[in-house]
Amino acid sequence: MSALQGKRIILGVTGSIAAYKSAFLTRLLVKAGAEVRVIMTHAATQFVSALTLGTLSKNPVHTDIMDEGQWNNHVEMGLWADRIMVAPATANTLASMANGICDDLLLAVILSARCPVMVAPAMDLDMWTHPATRRNMETLQADGIRLIPVGDGELASGLVGPGRMAEPEEIIAFLEQDLATTQDLLGKTILVTAGPTQEALDPVRYLTNHSSGKMGVALAEELVRRGALVHLLLGPVDILPTHPNIQVVPITTARDLLAASERIFPGCDAGILAAAVADYRPATEAKEKIKKTGNNDTLSLDLVRNPDIAATLGATKRPDQVLVGFALETTNELEYARKKLVAKNFDFIVLNSLRDPGAGFAGDTNKISLVFPKGEPQSFDLKSKTAVATDIVNALASLLK
Ligand code: CTP
Repeated sequence: MSALQGKRIILGVTGSIAAYKSAFLTRLLVKAGAEVRVIMTHAATQFVSALTLGTLSKNPVHTDIMDEGQWNNHVEMGLWADRIMVAPATANTLASMANGICDDLLLAVILSARCPVMVAPAMDLDMWTHPATRRNMETLQADGIRLIPVGDGELASGLVGPGRMAEPEEIIAFLEQDLATTQDLLGKTILVTAGPTQEALDPVRYLTNHSSGKMGVALAEELVRRGALVHLLLGPVDILPTHPNIQVVPITTARDLLAASERIFPGCDAGILAAAVADYRPATEAKEKIKKTGNNDTLSLDLVRNPDIAATLGATKRPDQVLVGFALETTNELEYARKKLVAKNFDFIVLNSLRDPGAGFAGDTNKISLVFPKGEPQSFDLKSKTAVATDIVNALASLLK
């Protein structure tokens, strides 16, 4: 299987005669199993048609920030991609990238991206060797942009020397190699539980909590970025990841979550249990809506204990499986976290405290400590949930080696 299978690639095409090769490149990317979105500069559309690249990529091609009155969300596109490949990359686009200029959609997407960006330059010999281009290439490489070496040979101008865009097959090989070396979880299958559970009281009401599912979804996205296949058991939330390597299993109650976890976890290398599971549910679910009675000012509910998914999986996990739990506390944080770590047989537990500003449920940030069975906890600064996911997955990956 190609390392490109299921990967999301943005192919940026800029205005060079080598743009005709982008059609072959698109075809090869799709054939390798990648999901491809093409962004063209206006100059590129003079060399190859958007219709050609759109048909081959099976997705509409975008050129402008505004398309027929509709805004193309460059931030969303930048975050969507696993890799951005600019091929061909002209001297002009490279100069803009080196200077952070973003006067077209492609440049705006590159500036918004968190994934690795790669360029396959194509230009005439004199442009390639010009001190300005040399300077820009140095800046780009210092910024972490990866360069696919140009070929040496006859150029469109008739000059002979370096400047020719790498062949599509070479670009594919470069991408595959890059993906394979940063894919430390390739071949691993990981269960992630996320979001709240809902426990019905009657046909119109339920008990739940404030979990947004954002932390669990960020974890699932980081895991697939690093090559894993994820089963995401997701409670009712507003976000739904669409990555082809994230298999979403919607759940509502703690009992649904237990049934799905017991079915799926035996086939997994690890589990990360980020769901905020209701510890109790109403003892009975009323068939009809519960009505107010008489002049009673109070109403008591009978609740019964829900199954503990983490404890169940912890009790049955194999020695080769890694189990990671979460503890959200408001007091005696470390003490409670250590107790849960032992009681549920976690390999480590992610502790967050509601006392830390910016940590917890609905926001986009979190502040965590990782608590292991032995040694000191590892504490991290307040970060975006995406960056927190990277820290958690790093710890998991080192245990899975
Ligand atoms: N968890 C679970 N099933 C439950 C309750 C919790 O799988 N019924 C998991 C959570 O996903 C989390 C960990 O156990 O990874 C700790 O959850 P938490 O609610 O903090 O722990 P509890 O054991 O329920 O303790 P308490 O509510 O008393 O703090």
